[in-house]
Amino acid sequence: MAGSITVCCLPELENNMIEKIEACNIIKRYNSGFALECSLSLQKGVLYTIVGPNGSGKSTLLKIMGLLDRPDSGSVTYLNKDSSVLNPQNDIHLRRKVVLVPTRAALFNETVFDNVAYGLRLRKAGRKAIEGKVMKSLNEVGLTRHKDAHAYELSSGEAQRLALARALVLDPDALLLDEPTASLDPDSTRLIEDIIMKKVRNSGKITVMVTHNLNQAKALADSVIFMYKGKIMELADPDVFFSKPATESAQQFVFGEIY
Ligand SMILES: Nc1ncnc2c1ncn2[C@@H]1O[C@H](COP(=O)(O)OP(=O)(O)O)[C@@H](O)[C@H]1O
Ligand SMILES: [Mg+2]
Repeated sequence: MAGSITVCCLPELENNMIEKIEACNIIKRYNSGFALECSLSLQKGVLYTIVGPNGSGKSTLLKIMGLLDRPDSGSVTYLNKDSSVLNPQNDIHLRRKVVLVPTRAALFNETVFDNVAYGLRLRKAGRKAIEGKVMKSLNEVGLTRHKDAHAYELSSGEAQRLALARALVLDPDALLLDEPTASLDPDSTRLIEDIIMKKVRNSGKITVMVTHNLNQAKALADSVIFMYKGKIMELADPDVFFSKPATESAQQFVFGEIY
């Protein structure tokens, strides 16, 4: 039986923000034998980082919370102040409030400007509004002077910042980032971290970032989620988690015995 996904909100009201995402008794199995089994509640105004060894199910969980994949069973609920129940899979309005940036986001074979403008055009924004918002976003990620460049001419760090600009320009209620600095050099990593600190961390929205970089997870997070073998083992304050992880698997992970 496919898992259910429910929305509690009035999507026709633009200012009716998603305040919480709840995943309840999620199960997702793959033929390899892997099984994701967890429950999780994400609040607005908290930056969550998800850490854990490769293959723990971090990306799988992110896709399910972001409505890009369905669990085999369990439910994902989107809540705001009001409580109408709708089916988000068919609810384009709601889906547009949630943006997942994958590790290596596919860029369009167009200019940097057009890549950022794409989502706004899809939402039928006016030409003037698009111009203003795109230029603001490009400025925020330091790509203004590349606006007419072809996306494929960018370095990997610049491409990742472009992917971030493409998400930020939409001002989503929930921003889900999957390893935004994976395989970037230290300078590019720092630029991305700066953008997250300045533009994302205090947005008051729902923000989740998967990262392999434990220093980053500690520095940016309000709350750390540790996953291991498809389960959420810990959800903790970063200082507590990184100095005194509660579970044996987290101790092994934090102190470099498993990764
Ligand atoms: N679409 C898929 N089909 C089959 N197996 C998958 C699929 N996606 C991921 N997996 C497997 O599920 C496990 C968890 O993957 P993933 O969620 O990507 O972990 P993480 O992001 O923590 O590295 C891994 O063993 C991976 O190989
Ligand atoms: Mg992953």
